[in-house]
Amino acid sequence: MEGMEKEILFSRDAINQRITELAADISRDYAGKELVVVGVLKGAFIFMADLIRRLQTPCVIDFARLASYGAGSTSSGQIVITKDIEMEIRDRDVLIVEDIVDTGLTLSYLVQAFKERGPRSLKVCAFMDKRLRRKVVFEADYVGFTIDDGFVVGYGLDFNEKARFFPDVYIVTNL
Ligand code: IMP
Repeated sequence: MEGMEKEILFSRDAINQRITELAADISRDYAGKELVVVGVLKGAFIFMADLIRRLQTPCVIDFARLASYGAGSTSSGQIVITKDIEMEIRDRDVLIVEDIVDTGLTLSYLVQAFKERGPRSLKVCAFMDKRLRRKVVFEADYVGFTIDDGFVVGYGLDFNEKARFFPDVYIVTNL
């Protein structure tokens, strides 16, 4: 992106290594079960693709997309599902895969909406957790990387739709 100054935060090697660890944790926890892995579009698609290929347990996949409406570019609290999953999740073991937990509003909403559909279990795996920006209490069950704050791009994460394709994660230094 033109004009964006950035520094590498997590290299592709560090990401690879962490995802291998996450996949091992998830595979252990779901041994003998078939997971429904739900990716939250668009940001989670690369993470999800890498994660599921390292799972030692079978899975099926689906995707959801959410939008938040209101003032400014950050989540305002008005969340809607703009693309729902197509699978039935009643009595299934569901793992939501998200790019970042920031304010926590998006995932709180999605978890509540999915709980009403009666899954056998429901957990969240987030590639990154921004600890200092929560507006609601929310803890992901599996977290790849934790940062306090700052805007990150790459590895699926965008800034105005740019920079998703970078293989490494960068922190933007001139926002
Ligand atoms: P929430 O604030 O927890 O509801 O997160 C909403 C969404 O904002 C996340 O799923 C991301 O797609 C996006 N987001 C939050 N922080 C960043 C960032 O640093 N880079 C790119 N996208 C972000």
